[in-house]
Amino acid sequence: MILLGPPGAGKGTQAQRIAHRYRLPHLSTGDMFRDHIRRDTSLGRKAKPLMAHGELVPDDIVLGMVEDRIAQPDCDNGFVFDGFPRTLTQAEDLERICRQHHYGFTIVLHMVVDPGLLMRRLTGRRICKAGGHIYNVYDRPPKREGICDEDGSELIHRQDDTEGVISERLAAYERQTRPLVDYYKAQGMLSAIDAMADADAVTASIEKILDKAEAP
Ligand code: AP5
Ligand code: MG
Repeated sequence: MILLGPPGAGKGTQAQRIAHRYRLPHLSTGDMFRDHIRRDTSLGRKAKPLMAHGELVPDDIVLGMVEDRIAQPDCDNGFVFDGFPRTLTQAEDLERICRQHHYGFTIVLHMVVDPGLLMRRLTGRRICKAGGHIYNVYDRPPKREGICDEDGSELIHRQDDTEGVISERLAAYERQTRPLVDYYKAQGMLSAIDAMADADAVTASIEKILDKAEAP
């Protein structure tokens, strides 16, 4: 399953919930890159300056990383992609990889949101250092300031969540990722989700679509 939508649409928030409910791995390419950067790997050193400017990481790097990840045994029953694919090349390559791994079915959830909401969501976002749990200082604050409710770890502000970089990320989405909406629509794979509703309502509408898709 693929969650498609602009920065701040709520892909990570929903992917965590859906992955938990359906017991599937949550594969966020953004989280994978941030982990490489933390570990200072050669892949992380390539991705870091691009992410800092809100640009996409080149397709060959992303695809190699994803291909390795979905070859792991925990992906045998499927997975939830968050932030991948993000270009037409990535989408076409994903089809090839899925065919190779005999993954026959993909559902693409297009998270539709008014761009005017995104700056506030992203500048207000805080992430827990240990488990990646997602908060928002305006709309979903933790019970104790700066501390994750789930695991007590420190909450951090993502380095690319500054107004200038957010604008670049939104522009990259429009330029390179939005064409995937028509691409998946033409294949009859796209379901639109109202991502402006509150997070619980968004989860409920995603579950409705997935439960229907699971039915024989
Ligand atoms: P990535 O980490 O994927 O970032 P992104 O796409 O910019 O998306 P975000 O994580 O910012 O937003 P989200 O939709 O997950 O929203 P969230 O749930 O956190 O990518 C980062 C970078 O890595 C890219 O810029 C690129 O450089 C690189 N990269 C990654 N993948 C790549 C790829 N495939 N190809 C090339 N480069 C790649 O929610 C945001 C906030 O809103 C939170 O505070 C949350 O609490 C709040 N919120 C969520 N839902 C709601 C709701 N329904 N109502 C109110 N508030 C809500
Ligand atoms: Mg995210």
